[in-house]
Amino acid sequence: PDRVDTDFHAADFVVVANRLPVDKETLPDGSVRWKRSPGGLVTALEPILRSQTGAWVGWSGVPDSSEHPVVDGLQLRAVPLSATEINEYYEGFSNATLWPLYHDVLVKPEYHREWWNTYVEVNRRFAEAASDAASEGAMVWVQDYQLQLVPKMLRMLRPDLKIGFFLHIPFPPVELFMQLPWRTEIVEGLLGADLIGFHLPGGAQNFLYLARRLAGQATSKGSVGVRSKFGVVQVGFRNVRVGAFPISIDSGALDQTSRSKKIRDRAARIREELGNPSTIMLGVDRLDYTKGIDVRLQALSELLAEKRIDPQDMVMIQLATPSRERVDSYIQMRAGIEQLVGNINGMYGEVAHQVVQYLHRPVERDELIAFFVAADVMLVTPLRDGMNLVAKEYVACRSDLGGALVLSEFTGAAAELRSAYQANPYDLDGVKDAIVAAVEQAPEDGRKRMRSLRRQVLAHDVSRWAQSFLGVLANTSETTPSGNRG
Ligand code: ADP
Ligand code: F6P
Repeated sequence: PDRVDTDFHAADFVVVANRLPVDKETLPDGSVRWKRSPGGLVTALEPILRSQTGAWVGWSGVPDSSEHPVVDGLQLRAVPLSATEINEYYEGFSNATLWPLYHDVLVKPEYHREWWNTYVEVNRRFAEAASDAASEGAMVWVQDYQLQLVPKMLRMLRPDLKIGFFLHIPFPPVELFMQLPWRTEIVEGLLGADLIGFHLPGGAQNFLYLARRLAGQATSKGSVGVRSKFGVVQVGFRNVRVGAFPISIDSGALDQTSRSKKIRDRAARIREELGNPSTIMLGVDRLDYTKGIDVRLQALSELLAEKRIDPQDMVMIQLATPSRERVDSYIQMRAGIEQLVGNINGMYGEVAHQVVQYLHRPVERDELIAFFVAADVMLVTPLRDGMNLVAKEYVACRSDLGGALVLSEFTGAAAELRSAYQANPYDLDGVKDAIVAAVEQAPEDGRKRMRSLRRQVLAHDVSRWAQSFLGVLANTSETTPSGNRG
């Protein structure tokens, strides 16, 4: 965006997310640039907002900024956060309490009352901004764990709205969720929505149980399906629907771009620049402890030590976007990963040949697509991940039916991408075997697997995800009870 908009009108469709799709960056000469925000949420929602005339309410990624950037005529309404709020609401409660709690307590969640108080305050600010942005009877779609109190707050401000909520990360097992001192407030906050969406039926079912147990509401008891068999929670006269809607990517657009000559040429050049190895392995992640970057490096290190992989004939590229860099657990994790990279290169590299190429910075979209096209083996090894869009992006980029996907069982994507080389990331021998199987796959078997993966990813794209969620949301109504209430 090159200008700043203050001329807002009320919109019929409003997305509310912690982040705007663009982050503000101030360059050393003082000029301002807006760059694409990191993460899967923006990847998924950007194409949808572009195809609808709506507004997006979110934070610009820096302290105290209330500039409203303009992207393609989209209304972007910035919610300002102070430095203290960034520390307590974003880095604190969102990313040092909820994030680890919802990701299998991979890191110990911290519970601080001041962080909670700031989370409540900031959620109220987002609810007010959403209320200002929405026209009478509008549809408002609230996103992710940073804003779980917004549905209830917004309903109190604007009972005329249709409110949807989607959680982009896993919803945890009941036993873990029960640790949270503010567990009832979170469940009640979410129940302000008309429709609550999760990636997987298991998350929806965990939530239904908690709505009964913590909020004391009557709920349906039957199992929840994928985009079908929605659960119901009765909240007063309202029926709140609960469903599973696995998110996806703009697969058609990626498929098209990845076929272009420019990308093909760049992919060929990447291989040349790496010294034409037989195998290029690739990892692409935000630098996050949930992603299991250490798992794949550890697996590679053992495979090299056991001589099951020849260091002269392969390269592993790890692209890692900086993320949440002031949160302690991220600082520690980064040090650990960089040490592993250093160890492998120190042991097995040559002056003219690094075994692991590690870039700690975001990569341009076209360049990323060229990396996907060039990679023989894609390594997606999270210890826990709500979905993992990278796995789907790789598949969408392989119209040549080449390449192989190694995929952790503990990603949401594993439920759909059955023909990947799946492994339990806690079982290092299993991960190593999956990598070797992917490296050594017979070409015909590889093509068969990739064909089946592509059928899934191309048929279930992000627009289908949004349409299925918004279709159910449009049909929710306060007066029609349904579902098998218990
Ligand atoms: P998360 O939402 O946890 O970050 P996802 O895999 O669902 O994880 O989405 C990550 C998104 O960010 C994908 O669209 C991916 O292509 C993009 N991405 C991740 N790492 C990089 C990188 N190093 N450079 C550019 N884009 C990246
Ligand atoms: O999908 C998970 C998610 O946390 C999004 O909510 C978020 O925008 C993205 O990953 C990137 O994280 P952050 O906004 O903290 O940089």
